[in-house]
Amino acid sequence: MPLVTLSYLLKRAQKGKYAVPAFNINNMEILQGIVYAAEKEKSPIIIGVSEGAIKYAGLDYLKAMVDVAAKSKVKMALHLDHGKDIELIKKCIDAGFTSIMIDASFHDFKKNTEITKKVAAICHKKGISVEAELGKLQGVEDNVHVEKGIFTDPDEASLFVKKTGIDALAVAIGTSHGAYKFKGESNLRFDILRKIREKVNVPLVLHGSSQIPIELVRQANTCGAKIKGAKGVPNNDVKKAIKLGICKINIDSDLRLAFIAGMRQALCNDPDCIDPRKILGSGRSAIEKIASEKMRFFGCKNKN
Ligand code: G3H
Ligand code: 13P
Ligand code: ZN
Repeated sequence: MPLVTLSYLLKRAQKGKYAVPAFNINNMEILQGIVYAAEKEKSPIIIGVSEGAIKYAGLDYLKAMVDVAAKSKVKMALHLDHGKDIELIKKCIDAGFTSIMIDASFHDFKKNTEITKKVAAICHKKGISVEAELGKLQGVEDNVHVEKGIFTDPDEASLFVKKTGIDALAVAIGTSHGAYKFKGESNLRFDILRKIREKVNVPLVLHGSSQIPIELVRQANTCGAKIKGAKGVPNNDVKKAIKLGICKINIDSDLRLAFIAGMRQALCNDPDCIDPRKILGSGRSAIEKIASEKMRFFGCKNKN
């Protein structure tokens, strides 16, 4: 089925009170694992492609693979994740992406609004959805290092959405990218999320939502990895965020962890193996498993 827009998927999610996962892809096995899970769970999906993924795999390769995936019955949007480079955004639009995230959140409010409004106008002319971010997520986002996160201001959020005309708003409430999100307990600002929800009508997005399951860390470490102190967003927090209006949940680190844990286990179990298909295939199965779990947990199983 043809690719659908982000707006289409998120309006349904908002109405149905569930969230759609946005999974980052970098290669064929990751994409296949996600799509196999979506077919099995009858779930819609958002395929996220970062600027880093484009640098790694190439825009044409990624788009061609997604076109093949879109021959399935799964309703999917092809989304540029954290787009910062306007020229690259234009290339993605021309390539047939159905959704763009313009991330100018590292600028001040005025500049962020100005850039986002411009990109939204370009995208909307072509029927493409637009997501933007207000506030700053701590950590590394496509080579931009943010030392200390800044929470989204609910009043600014309302103004930002009105001025820019965006279709979805990514909020900063204490999550961060990567596998090391909290030193102690998680302390997400649900009070801020509640206020944003009261003032903003467009679907809300939570980045940096990976859980970093301990059993995957153990599996990887048993097979030679040295992952220490990794901590993600607890499942209960994700559930609460969905209840408070989050409709799109971005997941990359959990896929990375599942993929390397699966491959490491295959390498451990079969040290003589020189067939990359066995190693990558094991990573792909691990992606399928974790993607399935997310779909069920986010409530989008059977919502295709
Ligand atoms: O938002 C961050 C995603 O995990 C993408 O990461 O820029 O390394 O592809 P990446
Ligand atoms: P995680 O690092 O928590 O998976 O977040 C990914 C993300 O927000 C991609 O945009
Ligand atoms: Zn993100």
